[in-house]
Amino acid sequence: MGMFEYEAVPHVSGWFSKHFKLAMVSGAIVAGLVIATIIVVPTALALSGQEAYIQAYANSNFTVSKGLSSFYSPVKVAAFNIKSFGLAKSSKEFAYQYIVKILSRYDVILIQEVRDKSRRSLKKLWHSLNETGVSYGSVYSDNLGRTTYTEQYVFFYRIKKAEVTATQQYDDSRDDDFEREPFTIELSYYSPQDKRKKRIALMALHTKPKDAAAELAKLPAVMKRTLQHFKHSQGIIALGDFNADCTYLSKKKKNSLELFKKDSGFKSLLHDSVDTTVASSTDCAYDRAFVYGKKVKVSEATVFNFQTAFDLSEKDAKEISDHYPIEFMLL
Ligand SMILES: *[C@@H]1O[C@H](CO)[C@@H](O)[C@H](O)[C@H]1NC(C)=O
Ligand SMILES: *[C@@H]1O[C@H](CO)[C@@H](O)[C@H](O)[C@H]1NC(C)=O
Repeated sequence: MGMFEYEAVPHVSGWFSKHFKLAMVSGAIVAGLVIATIIVVPTALALSGQEAYIQAYANSNFTVSKGLSSFYSPVKVAAFNIKSFGLAKSSKEFAYQYIVKILSRYDVILIQEVRDKSRRSLKKLWHSLNETGVSYGSVYSDNLGRTTYTEQYVFFYRIKKAEVTATQQYDDSRDDDFEREPFTIELSYYSPQDKRKKRIALMALHTKPKDAAAELAKLPAVMKRTLQHFKHSQGIIALGDFNADCTYLSKKKKNSLELFKKDSGFKSLLHDSVDTTVASSTDCAYDRAFVYGKKVKVSEATVFNFQTAFDLSEKDAKEISDHYPIEFMLL
């Protein structure tokens, strides 16, 4: 597996590193003095984003390499049910351009409802992502399903931000608990917060709508077992279109599920009240992400409403998908 490439700056070594550090330290001292003696008005208020952070950093600490590594952004993850993605959809120019635009917002993305046994549309999509100027890797499951209707789980990830160290296809052939058995990747990534590499397991699941309650009842045990398999992972996040709301999962059924119980060790990243559906006539939190593992740190979990973000009509948004992606940051 390839090396990470985010280390460019902190890896400056030897003579240069020493002098580079000295220069940064002197710079920081000068900056500190300037701020302490001349600027009485709290101009920090006027500084925005990274500048403010650099300033705060210069004032508080002089360990340069540690500070610089904080500038690498956390890994942005998403799960997107791209309604029936295959040859037909990938040749619809309007929808396709927006799909690429949406996917390229993320460092790691799980897409669901990929339906193309030829894999040609998948290759096209991968190529388009590479064309955005960053290299992507991809791993995907087999075609999954009990009948001739099958779907694939597909992950794309930015090679510079993450590495897939292993994959696992859950085998449910004994009890056939899932229409589309969960497919898991183990991801290695750099945590800017902890300033080190970490691993996490990401489990894909698109439940069969009518079996949502039954499949979700099985999920906790499957997550725990899978995490045991990925011993070096800090935890596991199951994500995807769980059909976990509205007609497919009543409030009563939902409240009986271990996944949704307080103190069960599972945590939903998104609130029950979110709407992951494009149609204005529906308000359902179908798409979900559940964490298991106390060490997992995640922030900014939300729904990406591309209709609003790109100022599209409902009709145009529906050309892209009937679901919005859910997203979060891995810290
Ligand atoms: C500088 O960093 C060290 C290690 O992270 C920390 O213990 C110390 O409190 C920091 N100093 C200041 C002034 O923030
Ligand atoms: C995308 O880029 C990666 C990294 O360079 C490469 O391995 C992969 O084959 C590319 N995918 C396509 C479809 O060209």
